[in-house]
Amino acid sequence: MTDSTPLFTPPFPPRQTRPLTLSETARVMRDNPLEVLPEAAFELTRVSVPSGGRHVHIISGPEEMRSVLQDRDGAWRKSPLILRMLRPVVGDSLFTAHGERWRFQRQAVNPGFAPALVALQAEGMAAAGEAAAQTMLAAGGTADVMAVMNDATLGVIERALFSRSGALDSAEVRRAIETLFDDLGRVRFTDLLPLPEWAPRAMSLRGRAARNRLRRAVEAEIDARRSAAAGAGGGEEAADLLSFLLAARYPDADRPLSRRDVRDNVLSLIIAGHETTAIALSWALYLAASAPDVQERLAEEAEQAFAAGAPAAETLRRLPFAKQVIEESLRLFPPGPILGRRATRATRIAEREVKAGDIAVVAIFALHRHKRFWEAPDSFDPDRFTPGRRPQDPWLFRPFSGGPRACVGGGFAMTEAPLMLARIVSRVRLSPVPDHVVQPMMTVTLRARGGLPLRAEPREKR
Ligand code: HEM
Repeated sequence: MTDSTPLFTPPFPPRQTRPLTLSETARVMRDNPLEVLPEAAFELTRVSVPSGGRHVHIISGPEEMRSVLQDRDGAWRKSPLILRMLRPVVGDSLFTAHGERWRFQRQAVNPGFAPALVALQAEGMAAAGEAAAQTMLAAGGTADVMAVMNDATLGVIERALFSRSGALDSAEVRRAIETLFDDLGRVRFTDLLPLPEWAPRAMSLRGRAARNRLRRAVEAEIDARRSAAAGAGGGEEAADLLSFLLAARYPDADRPLSRRDVRDNVLSLIIAGHETTAIALSWALYLAASAPDVQERLAEEAEQAFAAGAPAAETLRRLPFAKQVIEESLRLFPPGPILGRRATRATRIAEREVKAGDIAVVAIFALHRHKRFWEAPDSFDPDRFTPGRRPQDPWLFRPFSGGPRACVGGGFAMTEAPLMLARIVSRVRLSPVPDHVVQPMMTVTLRARGGLPLRAEPREKR
C-alpha cells in the first residue's frame, strides 16, 4: 500500500483481559467462541490454564503450531469436542477419523486433488464467479454476499464431486448446513467438562431432519453413479472425487469403502469444502469493498487478465494481486479460526511438557494477528503478501492448518477463490452498507453474524 493511504481495520471480536469463571466461559463460548481468546494470546505464544483436572494450552506461535500440527507419531488427536460435534453428521470419515482409517481415506481422495485435476475445474470456477456477479446485480442494490458465495461454491464442489452441478438443491443444502452448525456447532455448558470423544451429544429434531435431508440428497447422487456404472458395464470413467472414493480399495483385503463411508466422505468434502471457501470469498469481498483503492487494483488486474481470453487456469497466473487479497483475507478472517487437539500421551508443545489428556487450542486467529509477528496486525494490507514481504516462516500463516492433517483442498481453494474474486470484482463495484455493523462470529467456521450485506452496482467498462 502507498504510505499516504490509511489501512482499513475491520471490526474484530473483543479479547479477554482477565481470567473468566467457568460460567462466564460457557456464556462466551456459546455466543461466540472467538471471544474466549485472551489478549495475552496475541502477545505470548502459549497461555496455559488449568481446567477440569487437565491443562488447556492456547497456542498462537509458529513453533507451538509446528510442534502440535506436524505430529508424525500420533501424539495428538482432534479434540473430543470437535469430534462430538461433527461425527453425527460426517461419521468417521476423512475429517474425523484417525490412524489407519484416516490414512486410507486420505490416500483415497488425495489423487483427486492433484494440481492437474484441480486445473480442470478452473473454467467452472470462473464461470461460477460470473454467475455470482450477475446474482449480486440482480438483487437490485444490496446482496448478502455470504449467501451468494455459498450457492456459488456449492456448485463448484458439486462439479468436482459429481462432474455436474445442480444435483443438490443449493438453498436446501445451505439451510441444512446452517441448521446443523447452529444446533451442533454451538458450544454448550456440558462441553466444557472433560468428556470422552465417544460421549453422545444431543441433537435437536431440526438438526436430525437437516442431517437426514443432506444424507438422502448425497445418497441419491451416489446411487445414480453406481447404477450408471453398472449400466455401462462398470466402465464409467469420470475423474471426479466420487470416482476416486468408489475406486479405493483397502490394501489388505481388496475391499471398497462401504456405502455409508462413501456417503460420509462426500458429506465431509461438501461441508469442509464449500462453506470455508464461501466465507473466505465473502470476507475478501467485504474487505475490498471497504478499501476502494484495493478494489480498483483488483478490477484493473482482473480486466487485463481476462481480456487475454486464455483458459482460466492460465488466467489465474495473471492474478497475483487477487491471490494476495485472498491470502490477506485468510490471515484476518481464517475460516477455521480455532482448531482443537487432545494429547493422547505425555508429549511437548515446543519446550513445554504436557500431560496425556491436555488440550491444545490451536488459535490460528491469534497467530495471524499476533503483535510480535505482524506489523499493524488487525489492518488489511494485501501487500504484506508480495513476494518480497511475505512471511519467511511458513508456520506464521496457517489458514489451511499444517502437517499430515492439513486441509486436503488448499490448492483447490487457492485456485477457486482468486479466480472468483477477480471475476466478480471485474463485473461489480461493491461498497459497504451504511450503518450495517459487521460482527465476526464463530460457529465451527468464522462467519459474520446475520450475513454480510454489501451494495453492488455494475462496473462500467473502462
Ligand atoms: C478457504 C478455504 C478452506 C479453508 C480455510 C480450509 C481450512 C481447513 C483447515 C484449517 C483444516 C484442518 C482442520 C483440523 O485439523 O481440525 C481443513 C481440513 C480439511 N479440509 Fe479444508 N479448507 C478450505 C477448503 C477446503 C476445500 C475446497 C476442501 C475440499 C474440496 C476441503 C476439505 C478438507 C478436508 C477433507 C479436511 C480434513 C483433512 C484431514 O483431516 O485429512 N477444504 N481445512
